[in-house]
Parts: sequence; structure tokens; C-alpha cells
Amino acid sequence: FIQTSPINMANYYFNLFPEEIDPIWFDPCKDQRHFKIWSSKKSCGQLPDVIILGPQKTGTTALLTFLDLHKSIKVSKKSPNHFEETQFLSGKDYFNGLDFYRSYWPPQNNSDTLQIDKSSTYFHSELAPRRAYALVPSAKLIVLALEPGERAYSWYQHQRAHKDRTAETYTFDEVLEADETSMKSLRDLKKHCLNPGHYSQHIEKWLLFYPSSQLLLADGNELKRNPVKTLQIVQEFLDLETLDFAELLVYDPVKQFYCVRENNKKKCLGKSKGRKYEEMSQRARQFLNSYYKKHNANLVRLLKKISKELPSWLEALSQQNE
Ligand code: A3P
Repeated sequence: FIQTSPINMANYYFNLFPEEIDPIWFDPCKDQRHFKIWSSKKSCGQLPDVIILGPQKTGTTALLTFLDLHKSIKVSKKSPNHFEETQFLSGKDYFNGLDFYRSYWPPQNNSDTLQIDKSSTYFHSELAPRRAYALVPSAKLIVLALEPGERAYSWYQHQRAHKDRTAETYTFDEVLEADETSMKSLRDLKKHCLNPGHYSQHIEKWLLFYPSSQLLLADGNELKRNPVKTLQIVQEFLDLETLDFAELLVYDPVKQFYCVRENNKKKCLGKSKGRKYEEMSQRARQFLNSYYKKHNANLVRLLKKISKELPSWLEALSQQNE
């Protein structure tokens, strides 16, 4: 019998099983053994029923803001970090533990409401699919797919607006032209512009865990043009009582986006959503069309395989290529 401290024992254990150093959280309420020792002060149900995965710059804030008008939707509290998103499943906050995540929703869960976590870094995260499925295997997942070239350019403009030195110094064309001889910050910016738009590749990572019936691929371009239609599709997917968004949303010709109608006024999203910038160059457009050709073809194949509708922009592209 060897007497040693718990810390020494833990060190010994994790030396043997280093892959277990990172915890993986499960829902204590779904496991009888855990539930029996779950504090009576804690309530079940403080976890998301719906996760909007992203990616960034596809209209995720607009979708969340509009869905929040529905009485059966409970959006997570705004995080003071990470641009108001929880980003729990993709980032370091995961190590703060389950109670930290649960505190994003009120303790008294009304079973008629659907709780949402919208964190646009989840989509392309390597860690989030496994973590999400362990914790909330029955959650419904929403991905917003904006034409990926448009998304890439929006991300570049976002970085410029946030005074990223590289984005301020180099034009979008120069970013796209970066290669292995370019400096790291330029290569990184190019990667961040392009990588989240590899839609099929990222969706497949989520489908390793979740059944395709729990995933909706919503159309980011349609959300800009006709949010009422997109919200109708989302409401059906979430089995929500139908709210007539045509009554609640109104187009603002100055903002050039849909806004919420509020007492004869329009409440639009903030300055950082729906920015004004010049169109990308022809050269950038051609680069992006050719860069995403293979990825888009893979997305068509994947969506057909799982019997999902193609977003409008992808349908148009696939008809052009026939
Ligand atoms: P731009 O500012 O580049 O136009 P996200 O919230 O995922 O970061 O996405 C931001 C993008 O949402 C904006 O990018 C804008 O194009 C898009 N968007 C869609 N509907 C919108 C709306 N009603 N109001 C403002 N932006 C909207």
C-alpha cells in the first residue's frame, strides 16, 4: 500500500493517460449516477437546445436578433468577452467547467422555451463537435452558409474595421495572393478569410457526431434579401409556433438591410453589422470563384447525399457548371 497525495496520484495517472488531461463534460442530468450526486440547489435544463454554429460574418447576429423576438426563444446572456458570444465549446472557457456554461441561461427553465447558444467560432472548430455532442446530443444545429467568397471579403473588412495591422496594410487582392514566401501574419489572415468557407469539410466534422436530421443549413444570402423566408424555414426546423416575421421586420433603404419594427421606428443592427465598403475587385472575385469551386462541388454532393436543399447561391453555381 503506497501512501501518496492526490496530486501525485493525478500526476501519475495523467502521465499514463495524457490524452485524458482535457476534460469532456457530459450533462449530469442525463446520467443516473451523476444525477444522484447532483446538488439539489442546481437545476437541470440550463444548457442549449439549439446551437447556431456560425461561421463568422454570415449573418449570425441578424438571425439571432430576429429569433429573439419569438416568445419561445431564450438567447444566452451576453458574454463580456468574445464579442458577446459564449464560445464555450470552442475556447478556453470550456475549462471553467459546466456551471460556468450553465450560468448563461436562467435557472428556472420553462420547458416550452428553446435556449440558444450562438457562437460563430464553433463551425470550424476542431474541438466543438465532440464537446457539443457529449453535452447536448439532442441539440439542433444551425449553420448559415453565405456564398464563401462574400464571407471571406466580409471577414477581411471586419479585420480592417478592428484595426488589424495586416488588413490595414494590405489590400484584399494582396491578401489572396499571399503564398508560403509571405510573412506569417499575411498567411494567417488569408487562412482566416478562406478556411471557414470550406463548408462541406466543416459540416462533415459535425456529422461525425450528429445525425443530419439535427442540422439545418440556412442560406446566408437569402437571410439578407428575404429574412422572413429564412426565418420561416428556421421556425419549421425548430418546431416553433409560427410567428409572422413579415409584421415584425422592415427594410431600411439607408442601412440596406432588414431591421426590427419597433413602435413605428426601425431598430437596425449596430454599425459593425452591414458595413459599407467598396465591391471586391474582379481579380479577387475570379480568385475566389476558382478557389471555392472544389469546395462548393463537395458541398453540393454532401447536401444531395443527406437530402438537404442547396442554398440559392449554390444552386445557381451548380446550374452554371452543368
Ligand atoms: P457585413 O457587415 O460585412 O455586410 P455576423 O453577425 O455573422 O458577424 O455577420 C455579419 C453580416 O451579417 C454582415 O456583414 C451583413 O452582411 C450580414 N447581415 C445579414 N442580415 C443583416 C441585417 N439584417 N442587418 C445587418 N447585417 C446583416
